[in-house]
Amino acid sequence: MTFYPIARSTDLAEGKGRPFTVEGHRIALVRVDGVVRAVGDLCPHADASIAFGQVENGCITCPWHYAEFDLRTGQVLCGPATEDIPVYAVREEDGIVSVGIEDATVESEHPAEKH
Ligand code: FES
Repeated sequence: MTFYPIARSTDLAEGKGRPFTVEGHRIALVRVDGVVRAVGDLCPHADASIAFGQVENGCITCPWHYAEFDLRTGQVLCGPATEDIPVYAVREEDGIVSVGIEDATVESEHPAEKH
């Protein structure tokens, strides 16, 4: 996993989401109770930017059709979305917020056969 610095701490107000793109991942950063959470920014229902949703009780509500997601786990709590959103590791150090992205793995062209 590689951590990418993408925001200043001062850019992230409590309870407000902001969208970012890092290494091809669209990510919403949201500060909840002082802790920055990072989740996938694309709503699995119809690709709205979740970052612009309302934040309440550790959850964010999609601004288009109001699906609700847990910001800590990415779990969908309320439809119409039916899939969870990804969550990303976050580090906040010295006023900089970094998000962890799993390094791409190269698939073997000849995977070992199982016996
Ligand atoms: S796009 Fe998010 S609920 Fe429809």
